[in-house]
Amino acid sequence: MREKLGIFNKLKNFIKSKFFILKNKNLKKQTKIYNKKYSSYSENLVYVSEIENFLEKPKMFYNFKRNSFYRDVVETVQQKEGHEYLKILESRNDGFLKKGLETVLISDIVGNPFKYFYKGYPNPLSPTTLRYLKVASDLNILFGNKFHNVAEIGAGYGGQTLINDQILEIYCSKLFDLPTVNQLIEKYLNYFLLKGSYKTTTINNEPPSNYDLVISNYAFSELPKDLQIVYVDKVLKKSKRGYLTMNSGMGGLFSDGKLSAIELKSQLPKIKFLEEYPLTYKYNYIAVWGFEDNNIIEKNFKEKIL
Ligand SMILES: C[S@@+](CC[C@H](N)C(=O)[O-])C[C@H]1O[C@@H](n2cnc3c(N)ncnc32)[C@H](O)[C@@H]1O
Repeated sequence: MREKLGIFNKLKNFIKSKFFILKNKNLKKQTKIYNKKYSSYSENLVYVSEIENFLEKPKMFYNFKRNSFYRDVVETVQQKEGHEYLKILESRNDGFLKKGLETVLISDIVGNPFKYFYKGYPNPLSPTTLRYLKVASDLNILFGNKFHNVAEIGAGYGGQTLINDQILEIYCSKLFDLPTVNQLIEKYLNYFLLKGSYKTTTINNEPPSNYDLVISNYAFSELPKDLQIVYVDKVLKKSKRGYLTMNSGMGGLFSDGKLSAIELKSQLPKIKFLEEYPLTYKYNYIAVWGFEDNNIIEKNFKEKIL
């Protein structure tokens, strides 16, 4: 997730990557999957090379959620933000926090995430898992809790997939990520027993298909415009409902070379833009479509007007 990266952090990452490559001379350089023109921000870091290490070295997999390069891209949520997600979940009367505390927040040990003690809770909790739980709660408010087939673009290690599987009722999920990342997702999810099923894939391996719901947290928005357009045609337009946490399209540094929110709306006329709360980067927002009625938005979210 890149919501907080400013120029300073970008520079820091660049220097860190160069040191990393120098230190790991035996590493097959920086692993590239797509032609640079089609590669996302994260693919241009040493992120993918590090994932190869997680897959090859059990000790690194054991601690992968603490890896500093990985924390720049996926496991990014800070203690304070975790507290805000917790407050939102407490304020909702949907039972998701209770369910989470009995399941995903407690069994949360794979990858050894950083966890923190929050006042009133006897066990330490992972802020990233709290974010995934809050997203699952948003999905339930907007669309209900039953979905037949879900597409997820840029699934990270499968954290959102796991929480959705445990807390919502999802028959099957199709997870689109990079081939190496897909291997991490499979390794991670196979530590758990799922209620539904999943399949990892890449955009080039899939024909356009219909979906009940498409979700993407800080991932579709990080892809270059040409690739976004392919996802729009093959996945977004074919999906009855959508929930995309966006960090591009409404200005800011990261919007260069991406679809603007206006362009997205011209492709998906029913789309609405909501304020991200807690706001993790000034220009972030959530794009949604396919909810039952506008009252749901008015009651539970704040619409962001273009
Ligand atoms: C910022 S991370 C977000 C991960 C996850 N959605 C989350 O919220 O924790 C961006 C994700 O997009 C993935 N990604 C990069 N290029 C991609 C592509 N071409 N197609 C699909 N996903 C891609 C990355 O591997 C990573 O999993």
